[in-house]
Amino acid sequence: MSNERLFIFDTTLRDGEQVPGCQLSLGKKVKLAKKLAAMGVDVIEAGFPASGQEDFDSVVAISKEVSKARVCALTRANEKDIDLAARALEYATYKRIHTGIGTSDYHIQGKFRSTREDILERAIGCVKYAKRYVEDIEFYAEDAGRTDNDYLARVVEAVIKAGATVVNIPDTTGYCLPEEYGAKIRYLMENVSGIHNIIISTHCHNDLGLATANTLQGVLNGARQVEVTINGIGERAGNTSLEEVVMIINSHKLPYQIDVKPIYIHDLSNTVSSMMNMPVQANKAIVGRNAFAHSSGIHQDGVIKERSTYEIINPEDVGIDSNMIILSARSGRAALKAHLKSFGVDIDNGKLDDVYKRFVELAEKNKYFSNADVLKLVRKDYKKMQRYSLEYMQVTSGKEPIRPVASIGVMDNGNLIESSASGSGPVDAVIRAINSAIILKKDNDAGRKTLTTFSITAVESGSEVVGKAHITISYDKNIYHGHAAHTDIIVASAEAYIDAINKIAE
Ligand code: KIV
Ligand code: ZN
Repeated sequence: MSNERLFIFDTTLRDGEQVPGCQLSLGKKVKLAKKLAAMGVDVIEAGFPASGQEDFDSVVAISKEVSKARVCALTRANEKDIDLAARALEYATYKRIHTGIGTSDYHIQGKFRSTREDILERAIGCVKYAKRYVEDIEFYAEDAGRTDNDYLARVVEAVIKAGATVVNIPDTTGYCLPEEYGAKIRYLMENVSGIHNIIISTHCHNDLGLATANTLQGVLNGARQVEVTINGIGERAGNTSLEEVVMIINSHKLPYQIDVKPIYIHDLSNTVSSMMNMPVQANKAIVGRNAFAHSSGIHQDGVIKERSTYEIINPEDVGIDSNMIILSARSGRAALKAHLKSFGVDIDNGKLDDVYKRFVELAEKNKYFSNADVLKLVRKDYKKMQRYSLEYMQVTSGKEPIRPVASIGVMDNGNLIESSASGSGPVDAVIRAINSAIILKKDNDAGRKTLTTFSITAVESGSEVVGKAHITISYDKNIYHGHAAHTDIIVASAEAYIDAINKIAE
């Protein structure tokens, strides 16, 4: 039997962007929306047009730029909001209006000072009104988590009759227990006529840390859309995080078909975190910087004996490529394997046990170790080794008229070549010294190696800040990339440069 389709509705740009301090410029919103669409989300909630000109404009811009995913705009249950949403969505290829009203007694009495019957009429009214503009209407029963199930069922049945295609059951305050939320969805599935012709959606907040568990219970009991955000950002403690739901479904091979490609997760997580200035907590599932680090000896011992003892996800599956991994004694086997692969060393799982064991010994003994040190671990297993490696280096820096000077020692297939040079800065001096030590075949004619890009990014590794150098060299009409990481950014630069030269020499 084929898996049932589960739709992924991303609300990073609406519920996520609502968080104070997380507001994005129009350009950034469009960029993020395009990345979400490329990742494979089904629906992008692009904003709440009635909340202000900025949200209106972003729904318009995203509608024009994104054609793969459905673009959705939020409204309250009134005609003015719905008119604005319809106008903002005018250019969308696939569009949805998300309208609704609070249905719990807390909202009916405390916010609307109204009655259940009046709210029921308003719910029907907003769906019918929105239906004039757009075929696809999602209704939300705000605070459904604390809404009495009988009344909720009446509202859901009425809005389905009025034309809703999707009904959202938000646990707005994040109060429900997983069993309770699952039972609520099941109750609706069993008691609302017409419910099997529409889609029920989850929308869970994380106030008690239960958003993902509640979402999962919703799905297991019949919901076929999940509303999520990247990194779980959102009001207060946030929303259900996209990466958790996607990886639960993938890792457990749950019988649902989703279009999101996990390989995009890490990039999206970084993009959202840096655009919104919202750091991801180190131990956040899937995307935290420690999510794939093994720190305790017991875990390392287990992983050395058998990867599956403590590793359930391969970091590469969520887009953490080996160049992004700063290896440390806490890195897992998958990280090591991926790292070696980036140097052209494909190691099979049989040999990985032994190499990993020696790697942990190396990393525990030496606080700082280079890519070359790691590669030496596989020397006896692989002929295809890096030809050049940085043996030592010393740099003196200074302000004019003093010129920085670098002295280096480079190993070339076991032979030490020494050289020194001055440069306009310490990195320039080191690169000049390396260039005079390593003369490639075509260096004297038109193929001369030229540094085309150079960047340093600071990343945290454990309690330290590590500089990650990325270098691009053009040589003989080709482009070669080099990467390295070190607590000293000049060492990182030198090793990245040598890494790129090694790729030329392969
Ligand atoms: O949490 C909530 O209830 C919401 C609705 C507006 C969908 O975000
Ligand atoms: Zn919400």
